[in-house]
Amino acid sequence: MINIAVLGYGTIGAGVVEVLEVNKKIIAHHAGYEINVKYVLDLRDFPNDRIQEKIVHDYNIILQDPQIKIVVEAMGGINPAYEFARKALESGKSVVTSNKELVAKHGAELLKLAKESSLNFLFEASVGGGIPIIRPLNRSLTADVITEISGILNGTTNFILTKMQMEGLPFDAVLKEAQERGYAERNPEADVEGHDAGRKIAILSSLAHGLQVDYDKIYTEGITKITDIDVKYAKYLDASIRLVATCKTVEAGTYARVSPMLLDSDHPLADVYDVYNAVHVKGNMVGSLKFQGQGAGKLPTASAVVGDIVDAAKHPHINIPMYWDEQKLELLDIDLVPVKFFVRVIGDINENREKIDNLYGNVKYVLIPSLVNEFAFITEEFTEKEHREKLSNIINVVSKIRTTL
Ligand code: HSE
Repeated sequence: MINIAVLGYGTIGAGVVEVLEVNKKIIAHHAGYEINVKYVLDLRDFPNDRIQEKIVHDYNIILQDPQIKIVVEAMGGINPAYEFARKALESGKSVVTSNKELVAKHGAELLKLAKESSLNFLFEASVGGGIPIIRPLNRSLTADVITEISGILNGTTNFILTKMQMEGLPFDAVLKEAQERGYAERNPEADVEGHDAGRKIAILSSLAHGLQVDYDKIYTEGITKITDIDVKYAKYLDASIRLVATCKTVEAGTYARVSPMLLDSDHPLADVYDVYNAVHVKGNMVGSLKFQGQGAGKLPTASAVVGDIVDAAKHPHINIPMYWDEQKLELLDIDLVPVKFFVRVIGDINENREKIDNLYGNVKYVLIPSLVNEFAFITEEFTEKEHREKLSNIINVVSKIRTTL
């Protein structure tokens, strides 16, 4: 039997306990041992719940118990999660976490610490909820140079954009429902402003390149400016607006970006709906791969956490090497990245057309008959800097969304 401790009895912590209980037999079969939750650390008490007999409020009880081999961090945030993870590794216990903030900021350092102690620091659930993507990058796609990872990595924003697309609802009305369903972060700004997706693409990029990609160096734009009219254009064009997190290597270097994208219907991420996430990976040998599944929520996320617990149990005193050095990856200046834009303008197309044609050359105009005094156009590919300069000459631009159209 392997004894573990779970830190935090919130949505994910409770999910981990539930998965371990419901699938006890198959998990023991895979791990080679029965997995027993000996302690659950939480500030609160749960008097009407069977979990109460395992609740402790003092982390030292867990640290000082030599029977505890694996600590599952399901608290979220940096403090005290970082300190707790470090202390667990320093006390000879492997750590499994679902905490993307912790992994994005301290992943390389905690991996080094785990390696030095022949332990494991595992974090499959930190990106894409239940989707296996960390393990495939680290253990399966090792014959390839990864040239691109593009993903829908935030369930809350995908839920919001899907509802806006399917039901024509405005942004605010849908955010409330996502919060009620428990998908959103404690501070939903992290979801809607793109920071959560930014941390997740930073983790994937770091693993793909073996170097530290700092999430605060990634160009990040959220979905708060997307309106129901933008969504109307998307539908008219048989396209979808999605929050896409990308890390791509082009001739000039590697860039990373999180932003809404207007995706054509053939794009691998266009048909990802609701709370689902998807990750599209391109390798120079394997070609294109797509991983898809529920990116948030109690049981899908807990499934990934428990998968890591099983892996840690199968590797006692054996470090599973992960390719992620503390050295930084130099990202390409986003201004130099080529992209196409969908641009919406308030005004008469005839009064603007000559100027736009002169600035952009070839563009595709879009006019929706029911929308008066406005139009849109889709550009060819230019760098972000060139777009900014061109668009500064056009008045009354109300939206500009990067696009694959
Ligand atoms: N708030 C996150 C999301 C939870 O919506 O994807 C999973 O990381």
